[in-house]
Amino acid sequence: MATLVHELDVPVVDFVFADADQQRDQLADIAKESWIARSPFSYIVFHYEHCQAILRDKRWHNAAALVTEIRGIDDDRVMSRRESILSSEGDVHTRLRRLVAPSFTPRAADRLRPFMREVINDLLDPVIPSGRCELIADFCDPYPIPIICELLGAPKEDWRLFSVWAEDVLRIFNGTAADEVDRIVKAQTELEDYTRGLIAQRRSKPADDLITSLIAAEEAGDKLNEDELVMMVQAVIVGGTDTTRNQLGCSIALFAEHPDQWALLAERPDLAPRAVEETMRYFGAVRSTARFASVDIEYNGVLFPKGTLIIPALAIANRDPASFADPDRFDITREPSGQPHMTFGSGIHYCLGAALSRAEQQEALVTLAQRMPKFAIDGDVTWKPSTVAIFGPEKMPLTFDPS
Ligand code: HEM
Repeated sequence: MATLVHELDVPVVDFVFADADQQRDQLADIAKESWIARSPFSYIVFHYEHCQAILRDKRWHNAAALVTEIRGIDDDRVMSRRESILSSEGDVHTRLRRLVAPSFTPRAADRLRPFMREVINDLLDPVIPSGRCELIADFCDPYPIPIICELLGAPKEDWRLFSVWAEDVLRIFNGTAADEVDRIVKAQTELEDYTRGLIAQRRSKPADDLITSLIAAEEAGDKLNEDELVMMVQAVIVGGTDTTRNQLGCSIALFAEHPDQWALLAERPDLAPRAVEETMRYFGAVRSTARFASVDIEYNGVLFPKGTLIIPALAIANRDPASFADPDRFDITREPSGQPHMTFGSGIHYCLGAALSRAEQQEALVTLAQRMPKFAIDGDVTWKPSTVAIFGPEKMPLTFDPS
């Protein structure tokens, strides 16, 4: 007989630390004694096995659909009530994924690698001779945007608009969203108008880009309608910028503590794929996600009533000793264990842009390691508040030996 989750005697997590390391350590300690904990609005699971099982179980639905409710926002101007690929489930999600997946293969991402290298070198050329930079403003923030523009076929000069929209639209997932509704609505409205304009242009003049391939995407006579196209283009702009730029910031901060690994990467660029997997495992920019029970669910001897909110703590699962040998060791030569890190999620909502992001990160890390072979943090690194959904450094001043 399953125990009702609300009756379990489990640890309570009701803290928010400014410091992400402190927060992870505290949660990792709790994970040693319990597979589940209670927080003010939800439950949290920590172990790889349970995070994966919940993310793969289709009865748990993506809480992106509930984000306005969770954040206490009842302003009708906020557009998150409309279904997105992230918030859709069942047949609706399967159909969307089937139509768009062919545009997001590793091969499609590889085609952009020469362009990625060009963007990386264009960003680094002006700063390298001085031997110092502010990595976030000079590199991480601008880097993913021209790539998303190129992928979509949007004009390069629009990258600043994309950058602001992506960050502001994603504020809906932050703990402070209720105070930022005007900013979120403004970004959503501008992005919506822009996307509709871009799609109209491609309908009249097809090109070799993602929008054209999404317009053409067809399976057994089925196609994306106009609203679905708008939603998908927005998912790429919003999902594809703030994530990659913050992940790179986290990864470089990690390498700053491991100069031997940085030197190894510069010497052995063939390690780039493993370096990306290991940095994302050890220090992922997305540290958790959320699901709610769409029906009563029995799992691991516990009954979760319909509506129960649960947080799979991806960052803790990524250091689960049952899944990763010596999990607190950062090692870019680590052999793949058959259990991939969870920073791209798991199950049906597994990151659609994973191949693109992997390629972007691999190209960036290798070129940075080769052009800034010895670097050190030179001043204070400031971090986003630990309440943000996508975590990373805000400022990271560096000095390095120019090469
Ligand atoms: C380091 C970079 C990235 C990280 C850490 C990341 C992380 C994630 C995670 C954790 C999810 C699943 C969320 C959940 O299950 O609740 C997800 C889904 C998604 N990501 Fe990414 N992502 C990254 C880059 C990208 C890029 C470059 C794109 C676009 C080209 C993208 C587009 C998407 C989309 C569209 C989904 C929804 C997929 C679905 O619901 O089927 N992401 N991402």
